[in-house]
Amino acid sequence: MGFLYRQILRRILFNFDPETVHDAVMKSVSALQGVEPARMILELLVRVKEMPVTVAGIRFRNPVGLAAGFDKNCEAPLILAKLGFGFLEMGTITLRAQNGNPRPRVFRLNEHHGIINRMGFNNVGAYEAARRLSKLGSAGVPLGINIGKNADCSLEDAPKNYLEALKVLYPFGDYFVFNISSPNTLQLRVLHQKERLARLLDPALDFINNQRVKKPLFIKISPELEEGDLSGLVATAAERGLGLIVTNTSVRREHLHARWHSYEGGLSGKPLRDISNEMLKRVSELAAGRVPLIGVGGVFDGPSAAEKFKLGANLVQVYSGLIYEGPFMVKDILRHMEKNQADLKRRARGLGPSLM
Ligand SMILES: Cc1cc2nc3c(=O)[nH]c(=O)nc-3n(C[C@H](O)[C@H](O)[C@H](O)COP(=O)(O)O)c2cc1C
Repeated sequence: MGFLYRQILRRILFNFDPETVHDAVMKSVSALQGVEPARMILELLVRVKEMPVTVAGIRFRNPVGLAAGFDKNCEAPLILAKLGFGFLEMGTITLRAQNGNPRPRVFRLNEHHGIINRMGFNNVGAYEAARRLSKLGSAGVPLGINIGKNADCSLEDAPKNYLEALKVLYPFGDYFVFNISSPNTLQLRVLHQKERLARLLDPALDFINNQRVKKPLFIKISPELEEGDLSGLVATAAERGLGLIVTNTSVRREHLHARWHSYEGGLSGKPLRDISNEMLKRVSELAAGRVPLIGVGGVFDGPSAAEKFKLGANLVQVYSGLIYEGPFMVKDILRHMEKNQADLKRRARGLGPSLM
């Protein structure tokens, strides 16, 4: 299936502007979402084995999730879940709707299997997202909701902006993410600093702790962090019982072909893999098992997902891999994991690796 996608569909789709293709795919997919037979056919095609894991108190049917940014406006969670994902992250959603940066703002780096985007949190806003989610019903897998800051909101007002969005969206998510790491919102990454972060988190945690159902909060972090900020951040997460998503996109360009050096925005896909894995390794060492970790950045297949688990991730997420490898990638990753687990069991029983 992946072969067919790469040989035929990808060749066609890659002739068009990336965001135009994405919008068209999301429109078609969300139209199909209401068609029960379409959901059933997809489910049959992408039937995956259950590989349950419990992380941050949530039971996931498998540890491979959809990363934020793919379904920014909660358009198609019911059908995206049928691709085999163990969980989906919606957003980034801001309190008020906003347009984001001028287009074009998404670029495929075909020779690197990467993407640069500078979308700038274009989204329908928390109220419309909540309305959509309330009408959709359950996707059948845990739903994360990723929240960001409005571009016209100052850093001083950021805690209130995030908190208000959290309040509006709280009934509809199984976990929440505060995105403080997009390189496309001016000064957003300053929120990694310990005091700023505490000021952002404490009102949100007060709110969550006063709810009947307490839902986990994750912080999505940048791959470009000073050692001091990083250790403070991991300590904050451990003290306050938060999870971390490692990482968002990168602003580094030196390892790319020169033609891409002047493109502003966040880099994802294969050229992000080593950068985000390095950060995951550092975070995992500092966290020493005290913080739930979601690894994201450059997962394109089974081995690249396995690498993240080896470095300490409890769950992984994908985005760019879906664009380059196609929608059956999730199934391939899970098959690889299943085979590895079977190999491990066989080895433990002294039978040697399977030849499958
Ligand atoms: C076009 C595009 C839009 C994105 N939008 C968001 C977003 O709104 N919020 C967010 O937290 N991450 C966003 N991301 C980052 C992804 O969630 C992920 O962290 C990053 O792409 C690395 O994973 P990947 O290499 O599998 O793509 C976006 C990525 C891409 C390619």
